[in-house]
Amino acid sequence: QERLRVLSGIQPTSGSFHLGNYLGAVRQWVDLQETNDAFYMVVDLHAITVAQDPAQLRENTRISVAQLLGAGLDPERCTLFVQSHVPEHAQLAWVMNCLTGFGEAARMTQFKDKSAKQGTDSTTVGLFTYPVLMVADVLLYQADAVPVGEDQRQHLELTRDLAERFNSRYQPTFTLPKPYIPKATAKIMDLQDPTAKMSKSAASPKGLISLLDDPKLSAKKFKSAVTDTDTVVSYDEEKKAGVSNLLRIHSALSGQSIEQLVAHFEGKMYGALKTELAELYAEWVVPFQQRTQAYLDDPAELDRVLALGAEKAREVASVTLATVFDRVGF
Ligand code: ADP
Ligand code: NA
Repeated sequence: QERLRVLSGIQPTSGSFHLGNYLGAVRQWVDLQETNDAFYMVVDLHAITVAQDPAQLRENTRISVAQLLGAGLDPERCTLFVQSHVPEHAQLAWVMNCLTGFGEAARMTQFKDKSAKQGTDSTTVGLFTYPVLMVADVLLYQADAVPVGEDQRQHLELTRDLAERFNSRYQPTFTLPKPYIPKATAKIMDLQDPTAKMSKSAASPKGLISLLDDPKLSAKKFKSAVTDTDTVVSYDEEKKAGVSNLLRIHSALSGQSIEQLVAHFEGKMYGALKTELAELYAEWVVPFQQRTQAYLDDPAELDRVLALGAEKAREVASVTLATVFDRVGF
């Protein structure tokens, strides 16, 4: 198997990650670190595209790193760092901003969605150029593959377009990255509204499984998950979105296939699925929380990990930036 340079990032804005973040992203990161040259970052520069309380942001960034370590990222096997510790991200982003058409940036659908929700007066220029910062994040490390959700595909196309534009305007400089959308990745839906994806901006907190919550509270949320008036445990994303979501979560945590689970729950009611799922989740989350807490209780160790990560990241990032600045004429 080919060893790829992989890069991905996660925002620190919510403090606690949710189950969708873990099953949809972080768990794949843990697998990918084994056979690839993986760079993972907590993207605090991206976080300030909307207003943040400084003390809260600082705290949430550390909690995010501790959770990534608790989930199994190993600073010896991957490069784990905080984006703002590597100033080259902002520096390369400026150069890439100057290669991006205004109309090109204005076509980014995620910006259109988010700014429509916020209104033009509270939308920052930072949010507008967010995709360009993402471009810089990826190109700085000459990443071959970027594990992203479907929602980030357009940003990755922008990355390839801008990489090609730079390469042809100046000289070949950047690797063109490919999206890596793992096929086994579960899309986790809101427990109260299984037609919407689980998100930190959930309409009802009952729909959201936050990894740092008391597992007893999460068990209650699993048990009150919205299902349907049928009673048979079977998989049908359209007609039985709630039950199908619970089956997907079970499958992701237990490693059993959906078919095996449907057979296992034959003749049983939804309550049995919910109870088993709550237990399965607790078995995973309790040790996860203990590992995370151990890092939070040892700030010196967390600082050591972050200093090491920033040093490893800058070794690569500074070389790319120096080449770029030279080619641009600085
Ligand atoms: P949110 O959607 O809660 O704002 P982020 O946008 O910070 O979460 O997502 C961080 C990572 O988690 C991304 O890689 C994203 O694809 C993944 N992710 C987020 N929500 C889900 C979900 N409900 N199911 C699967 N993956 C998800
Ligand atoms: Na999102």
